[in-house]
This record gives sequence, structure tokens and C-alpha cells, in this order.
Amino acid sequence: MWWRDAVVYQIYPRSFQDSDGDGVGDLRGIVERLDYLSWLGVDAFWLSPIYPSPLADFGYDVSDYTDVDPRLGKLDDFDSLIAGAHDRGLRVLLDLIPCHTSIEHAWFREHPDWYIWSPVDGPPNNWTASFGGSAWSPDPESGRWYLHSFYPEQPDLDWRNPKVVQAMQSVVRFWRRRGADGFRLDAIDKLVKDDRLRDDPPASGRFPLPLQAEAAKLDHVYSGNRPEAIEALRALREAAAPDALLVGEVYQPTQQYARYLDVIDLVFAFEFLFAPWDAARLRAAIEPAAALGRVAWVMSNHDFDRLASRVGQENVRPAAELLLTLPGTAFIFQGDEIGLPNGPGANPPLDRAARDPMRHPMQWNASPNGGFTTGEPWLPPIDPQERNVETQREDPSSLLHFYRRLIESRRSLGESFRLLNSPPGLLSYERDGRIVTIEVSTK
Ligand code: NOJ
Repeated sequence: MWWRDAVVYQIYPRSFQDSDGDGVGDLRGIVERLDYLSWLGVDAFWLSPIYPSPLADFGYDVSDYTDVDPRLGKLDDFDSLIAGAHDRGLRVLLDLIPCHTSIEHAWFREHPDWYIWSPVDGPPNNWTASFGGSAWSPDPESGRWYLHSFYPEQPDLDWRNPKVVQAMQSVVRFWRRRGADGFRLDAIDKLVKDDRLRDDPPASGRFPLPLQAEAAKLDHVYSGNRPEAIEALRALREAAAPDALLVGEVYQPTQQYARYLDVIDLVFAFEFLFAPWDAARLRAAIEPAAALGRVAWVMSNHDFDRLASRVGQENVRPAAELLLTLPGTAFIFQGDEIGLPNGPGANPPLDRAARDPMRHPMQWNASPNGGFTTGEPWLPPIDPQERNVETQREDPSSLLHFYRRLIESRRSLGESFRLLNSPPGLLSYERDGRIVTIEVSTK
């Protein structure tokens, strides 16, 4: 269980390092930066999707699960990346998107029965898509209505069909054979839906995670989070083998995580990610998650506001200390270690769900494109002169060095964890006799 106290670094491949000047990050670029990851001291990295994709959802709409998007490289480059990572003792996690494919995946035409279709000529129920609107759209070719939990370009696979289970197991085996050490499993609470397609009931209480206005009006008990999803995940576990790390994106309250943890290793702690920078709120999010023993602590990713923008630049150090001293596995999103804030995004926006601001390129040096590309970057750099890896590496008092020291010193923290009563504005806990106190004061 190499991952127990591991630090996993999330790479958004399009925005990490471009090696060929086309303005889009790529696998060779990541190879060039492996020494940086070793220096920082992380144990593993997770690659957001690298597969061919029409980019309706920037890679989360996959049109071929067993290849690399030509803009990011080739399978050979993936092999070099694995070799380079493993030589340095770094583990590699891929992003697996089992809930839906791209509408342009060949499966959608070749195997329509692998997808979920309405039995009537229109939406059969009130299910909503996570990005807004109905979760049902008509197929422009056949006119039949299909289910999509996210964008209409992402039709949901039918995991009740054994052929789908087998196909996805083959995908998992393919990447394991090529050296992947595990997977981050996308949207797995949406994996299986009610077989009777019943309406979701009106919301009975407040869902603790952000939802689109329309989605917030319903309790999504039939459109997702079904007990049958656990069986589907068991099939993925079987294909991945017991030693692969499986970390699940379950967009649900903490109290729902336990059953997922029967089959996968970790679940992202979303209530913690969304907790405002307030000692009492953080504590309330941490306590039940820590009690599960196996959550992945995370404070930002490519979907939500960056850490520096959410907690404020003045709080990035205590936030990093919190993230990296909680018990168990911690995930860092690329750029948080240099304090990268949200950027302006693109005009007009590229992502329809307004997530461009969190996806600006990594800033390696103070040059105009931050050392990310020699070409025209797909999203502009934010402030490479003010914030970049090179300058911070030269300065032992920088945020980057602070992260590095935290990563190094967490090795000696031990197993035990106990939250302590603390005065307002402070969050204290004990780790094997050592007291950690985080200042959660707001300016
Ligand atoms: C979660 C991913 O993190 C997000 O980027 C994506 O849009 C949805 N799942 C749908 O795949």
C-alpha cells in the first residue's frame, strides 16, 4: 500500500509543459519535468485524460480509450513517460472515465445497446445533467433520446450490459500492462442508474456540495449513487488487480463514501474541498472524513476554484500545511505549489461550464509564456513574472520550498490522528504525539 501516506500531484496535461511548440502541453513535456516532481518529493502523479477526444469536455469525452490524443503524443511517449517515472520511483495514475464516452466514440454507432435510451419519444423522467438542463437529448442521427449525466456530447454507458463491463475491463488491463499504477475513476456515483428510470424526488434537504440551480431542486437518488454501482466497481477492481490504486470521484456527501470504500481504495473528500476557510467548518468536514480512514484529501482540481483564489493568497501556507498534515493520502493540483490563482480564462470561453480559469498553463520561469511553450499557448499564462517555479526554487523562503519541506516532513508524522479542542480561528490536531496547529484566521 505505497499510497497510504502518499502525495499525489495532479497534472492537467494540456497545461503542464509543451514540448513541440503547438501551444498545448504534451506527454514529452511531462517527461522533461519529471525531475521537478522528484525534487518536489511527490510519490505519484495523476494525469487528467490523455485519450483522443473531440474536447467537448476537454478529454473527459473519450473517443478511444486505448490510445493517446495525437496533440498530446503517442503510445510510445506514454511508454517513455512510464519508464522515466518508474526510474525515479514515481507512480503514475491515469484518469478512467467509465460512466460515459464521447458521442464520437465508435461504440455509440457500433453498439447502441451499450448506451441508455429512453423508452419513449422524449425524456422519460426529470433527471438533470450535471452541467444543467435535462439529462436526455435526441440523437441527431436516429432521433432516439439517450441519457447523458454531463454534456450532451457524453452519452452514458449502460453498466447493466455485461459487454460494457468487459469492454471497460479490457481498457483497464491495457493500461496496466503498459505500466499504469492505478486510476482516478471519474464520476463513479453516476455509473449505474435506476433500472426503472424513476423520477428523482424533490430535494429533502441541503446537499452539501455545489450543484447547478436546477439539479439542486432534486434528490438524485435514482439518477445515480445506486447500490449496484459497487458491483460495477468490483469488476474494475478485478481487472486492475489488488495492487493498483483506485481513487474515486464520488460527488456525494462524506456519509455516502463507506460502501465505495469496500471496493476501491480512496474517495476524494469533497466536503473538505468545499469547506470555506473557517476553523469550525473545516473541522466539521475533516472529522467524518478522517474517521473513514481512507479519503484522498484534496483542496482543488481542474473543476473548481484554485486554492489560492478560494482561500486567498494570505492563507496559502496554512492551507498547504493543513492539506499535507492530515492523515492519509493528499492530492495537490499543479500550480498550487507556487500559489497560482484562477486566471481570466478565454474569451469566448472554451469550456461551457466556465472552468477555463483553473486550467491556465504552469509557470516555469519569468518569460512571457512562463516557459510553458515556445508557441501560442492554448490559454494565456496568468502572471509568470510574479510567480514561477524557477524563481521560487532559488528562494528557500518561497511557497514552493514550503510545500517541499511539508512533503518531506510528513514522512515522520506517524499514523494516529486526533482533533483537539481549539480556540476560534485555530484548528489543532495531534499526530502521534505531535500537535499541529493551523491558523485559520481570515483577514
Ligand atoms: C469530473 C471531471 O473532473 C470533470 O472535469 C468532467 O467534466 C466530469 N467529471 C465529467 O466527466
